[in-house]
Amino acid sequence: MKVETLKIWSCQIKTAEFPMLQPNSLSAEQSLESFLQKSQARTNACLQNLLQHSTPNAKLNEALNYACLNGGKRIRPVLVYATTLAVDGNLDSADAPACAVELIHSYSLVHDDLPAMDDDDLRRGKPSLHKAYDEATAILVGDALQSLAFQVLSSQENTLPDSTRLRMLDTLAKAIGSNGMVGGQFADFSLVGKETNIDELESMHRMKTGALIRASVTLGALTQTTVNSGSLQALQSYAESIGLAFQVQDDVLDEVGDTKTLGKPQGSDRLNNKPTYVALLGLEQAQAKALELADRARDSLSEFGPAADQLRNLASFIVSRTH
Ligand code: IPE
Ligand code: IPE
Ligand code: MG
Ligand code: MG
Ligand code: MG
Repeated sequence: MKVETLKIWSCQIKTAEFPMLQPNSLSAEQSLESFLQKSQARTNACLQNLLQHSTPNAKLNEALNYACLNGGKRIRPVLVYATTLAVDGNLDSADAPACAVELIHSYSLVHDDLPAMDDDDLRRGKPSLHKAYDEATAILVGDALQSLAFQVLSSQENTLPDSTRLRMLDTLAKAIGSNGMVGGQFADFSLVGKETNIDELESMHRMKTGALIRASVTLGALTQTTVNSGSLQALQSYAESIGLAFQVQDDVLDEVGDTKTLGKPQGSDRLNNKPTYVALLGLEQAQAKALELADRARDSLSEFGPAADQLRNLASFIVSRTH
């Protein structure tokens, strides 16, 4: 059992071999561009290492790699690392939660693209998983990634006490189930063709996308075992705002982006008659809403000093991004 744990979670051994992936390569002072690039590299190295040992079945392993190691922005892991810096947590302890949230996110995208859901054939600039493989593989890859995310959290080898690990598992489980991401995805297709009001739309966005983003920030905060409830609350309020802003901007980009830059089909929401901020409020108001939420997010961080600067930078990035 011990050996298996080591095999599955050998990420820290591997990262130690690369100077650019050392913990001190991430800091609150560096430019956002550098912070993004280094956090993404760190996440990619951890995921690659993790997926090498995930299954003896070569074909399934290839499909799992296809789903995860394919150029996503890694914004959720980046938020884990940025929050870890904000609370002066242990960056080594942030690798497992960073991988866990990206594994969940990758699973959600594989399922989101299926014909029964958004029926999109392009993801991160390549054929969606069910196109590159088949629908059964896509369903099972999603299932396996979800399971692996929890395994990573439960078997991580670091200095965190068991009580913190349990709290991390609880946080992630609550965020992605029927009262979180899955509930939001259910609302997303249930509301197609129905008259939607802004409250229903906001609640759906907070669940389908906001919940995992909020969990990413919470998991980052939990790497600091002495984090106080006031700071945690402030961080969660920050996360509420950027979580909603992230999906509002995603809706905006579906309208104004281009397929090549997005790496996914522009106009999919309109085609599927999806309930979106753009559909309900129009483009300009949706854009204004995203900016207002980013301001609100930054305001939530008023009690934090420069250590939270990457979180502040990320609030702006989330609403100005082009993909
Ligand atoms: C897209 O998420 C799906 C949403 C939840 C809006 P991202 O924009 O983070 O997608 P990747 O990971 O960069 O491809
Ligand atoms: C996806 O929302 C949300 C989840 C996968 C949980 P979208 O359907 O808007 O995401 P994209 O636009 O396909 O990336
Ligand atoms: Mg969708
Ligand atoms: Mg979609
Ligand atoms: Mg979308």
